[in-house]
Amino acid sequence: MLDKAKNRLLTDVEPGSAMGDYLRRYWHPIAGAADFDQVSIKPIRLFGENLVLYKDLSGTFGLVERQCAHRSADLAYGFVEKCGIRCNYHGWLYDQGGRCLEQPYEQTVLPNSKYRDKIRLKSYPVREKAGLLFAYLGEGEPPCLPDWEPFSRSDGFVQVVTADVPCNWFQCQENSIDPVHFEWMHSNWSARMRDPNGAFGPQHIKLGFDEFEHGFIYKRIRNDTDESDPLWTVGRVLLWPNGFFLGNHFEWRVPVDNENTLSVSWIYAAVPENRRPYRQNHIPSWKSPIVDPETGRWITTHVINQDIVGWVGQGRITDRGRENLGQSDKGIVMVRNRFLRELDAVAAGERPKGLITDEAMNHRVTLPVANRLSLGANAVTAKFILHAGQPAEVRAACEEAMGFEIDAGGLT
Ligand code: FES
Ligand SMILES: [Fe+2]
Repeated sequence: MLDKAKNRLLTDVEPGSAMGDYLRRYWHPIAGAADFDQVSIKPIRLFGENLVLYKDLSGTFGLVERQCAHRSADLAYGFVEKCGIRCNYHGWLYDQGGRCLEQPYEQTVLPNSKYRDKIRLKSYPVREKAGLLFAYLGEGEPPCLPDWEPFSRSDGFVQVVTADVPCNWFQCQENSIDPVHFEWMHSNWSARMRDPNGAFGPQHIKLGFDEFEHGFIYKRIRNDTDESDPLWTVGRVLLWPNGFFLGNHFEWRVPVDNENTLSVSWIYAAVPENRRPYRQNHIPSWKSPIVDPETGRWITTHVINQDIVGWVGQGRITDRGRENLGQSDKGIVMVRNRFLRELDAVAAGERPKGLITDEAMNHRVTLPVANRLSLGANAVTAKFILHAGQPAEVRAACEEAMGFEIDAGGLT
């Protein structure tokens, strides 16, 4: 159980909040680069701020506040130019730094006017990496954009999947340090959805939790494994502060505001040995639905959709005053306490946990991987189980990479 003040500290990410300011010290993935294959401008809300993300005609990405500095028209309805984004109301033009480059009528009637130099939209740096667009929404000089080792593999097919999740970011992130949910929410629930008498899967009998530089690790032993199993010797990674890393995919829980989260997954599937080296020219990006339009219920067929059922079921901002924690929640308590200590530490001027600030140290940074084998030649993914709604063209591209057909049927 957590008191109201601590719950508020952990969950409030909107402007002026300590946690919002803390998380803004890190780079966050906010879209797939391929989201801009067909459109140039997308409205996006992050940390309670309304913004637009755009790609201009020279290919530069920008992230600026959504309302024009002139008279607040919606830049989501603007249009991009060779450099920057232009408001559709009176034509003011802005670059990726938020500088106003043109004010057409002002410049016509007052050619020597320096008025535009005084105008500035709030803007944030955006960088493209591994098919993702990352933004830095903090103050001052950004840290290094982490070059995680999987980003530069050349033996697999990558796709980016996003989902809009209507609940607070922190209950999503608590899921990253919750090994027992795997047994029930994925294994046993799927078995019972397939068959009401379906057999349960292996049972957790021992858990361990450790902290390391880039997050926390959970370790599990089930009644079909022992202490020699990589899920015990290596474990799984809660990637600090809002990620989850499972060897062949990353998930991030990016705060939209206090009651909404953008789920961003980067998913890698090794291609068979005889198809390597594999060069992927285009990393697709797609949005997974979370509601079944037929029934109005949450989609339950795929792994991350199942997780989302857990997160949103807890409420928009879950009331941790009514919880009754148990032995399976030790990692969650460790992570909450670490966040609370971090807020105190940064208030005292210390550096946030795990930031990479030396570019010389930011080359193929490795993280613990328990499932090395599943990245190897003999364990090629034949089924896409993580997210519902994979578009046919993405499956076709993956099949092309693999050289065989892929079943997108999920878990049930
Ligand atoms: S409101 Fe944008 S140019 Fe006038
Ligand atoms: Fe899960």
